[in-house]
Amino acid sequence: MQALFPSDRDRKLPAFGRKHRGWHLAALLLCATAGLGAAASAAPGTAVGSEDGKYVDAEGSPTYNIAPDGKLDWYTFSGYRRYHSECHVCHGPDGAGSTYAPALADSMKTLNYEQFMTIVVQGRTNVGAGNQKVMPSFGENRNVMCYLDDIYVYLRARGDGALGRVRPEAHDPKPESAKSAEAACMGN
Ligand code: HEC
Repeated sequence: MQALFPSDRDRKLPAFGRKHRGWHLAALLLCATAGLGAAASAAPGTAVGSEDGKYVDAEGSPTYNIAPDGKLDWYTFSGYRRYHSECHVCHGPDGAGSTYAPALADSMKTLNYEQFMTIVVQGRTNVGAGNQKVMPSFGENRNVMCYLDDIYVYLRARGDGALGRVRPEAHDPKPESAKSAEAACMGN
């Protein structure tokens, strides 16, 4: 920050130059503060940055980005499809839960990214009151592991209420980086 303030060097500039530098400085500081304010007050799931169609929140965790017209980013759309092929059978359609397994749309309100990852990779067994419920370990399942961020952002959007119980239609095209990451992960 120190470097932004007028230095001795500035004082040696002619009057006109000084005035101009001051104006630019004020504009710069204003922008910096506005940017920080937005990041600090953003809701947890809000995207604050993106790289090649992949969105992150203020903590650097993957998140969704849904346009006002309902158009999904690629990863959220992909997560919708993967969830319904790998998790739906136990956790119910749209992350809404079943008699066997919890509603993940609700779980996402308390689970952070690391906790979610750990449970899916390692699995979890809950033995209680005469019934045994098992969340399988998916650590060796590429159809899940290669798309786990996608599933995470989809469920996150469901948990935040950003995405309803609908079949998403419009979505961004698949980014090149998603294609290469998929090929590398699946070993193709
Ligand atoms: C064979 C059924 C089954 C499948 C398939 C399954 N789960 Fe689960 N899952 C469970 C059960 C049962 C629990 C609850 C376990 C417990 O109570 O400890 C659970 C718990 C979880 C939890 C913790 C929820 C919480 O509130 O603590 C997460 C996260 C989760 N599953 C994610 C997934 C994801 C993601 C998929 C798909 C890749 C998936 N599960 C597929 C049965 C399943």
